[in-house]
Amino acid sequence: MNQQISRFVSKAVAKLRYDFWDAPRGRGRSPGKDLWDDQFRSGSWNGLGVAGEVAHYAILAAYAPYLHPSPDILDVGCGQGELVKHLKLRGFNSYLGIDLSSEAVQQAAASHACEKIHFVSANLDSWTTEQTFDLIIFNESLYYSREPAATLERYATYLRAPAEGGLLISMCEYGNHEIIWRQIEKKYSPVFSTRVENENAQAWNIKGFKTTGPRGCAQGSPMASS
Ligand SMILES: C[S@@+](CC[C@H](N)C(=O)[O-])C[C@H]1O[C@@H](n2cnc3c(N)ncnc32)[C@H](O)[C@@H]1O
Repeated sequence: MNQQISRFVSKAVAKLRYDFWDAPRGRGRSPGKDLWDDQFRSGSWNGLGVAGEVAHYAILAAYAPYLHPSPDILDVGCGQGELVKHLKLRGFNSYLGIDLSSEAVQQAAASHACEKIHFVSANLDSWTTEQTFDLIIFNESLYYSREPAATLERYATYLRAPAEGGLLISMCEYGNHEIIWRQIEKKYSPVFSTRVENENAQAWNIKGFKTTGPRGCAQGSPMASS
């Protein structure tokens, strides 16, 4: 009983600390690998292919070629790989998805077996790589980082030739997303940006960023040169 009370108290203190100290400072938090694994195993995230969700995936994929015509893509917090379906329609050179949940990664790999598509189970806060990419995507995942803005800056160093690639971020209008956007936009200006709202009043902001060059200056349309 005492143990239960002390667990309850420490959970409540952690929640208060997050709500009143960390969240206003633009920090994120992740529920932990076990919980994500349970949710993916029980199918809680199987509904991402429904019509109400399709627009934000489709816009992310449609934006991709405006940052690079044939990118090597890193998708951070890729889940079951729903976005790959949409990215395939636009074309890419290679795709690597990383996710904390090994269950999500197994499901993603089973659905998208292909020599240019790979998935790895890793914590985005500690994962490092020698590889470089043309396009790095955080789709509903950046707010699970402890320090989202600093994490984004660290991942930006994995861009191969920053002038020719970029970052794509989608965040649901939830929690401290506005504070996180403000912190990101202190460092980078969006070169394009869209808000999507579905029939349940769930809304996403989707923004593309170049990390070098004139701020706010988008590359020309990839369609124009084809
Ligand atoms: C809301 S889901 C989005 C999944 C996917 N990007 C999509 O939109 O289909 C958030 C994802 O972030 C992953 N995640 C949460 N914390 C993480 C962390 N610290 N490192 C890597 N992935 C994490 C979860 O396992 C989950 O797959």
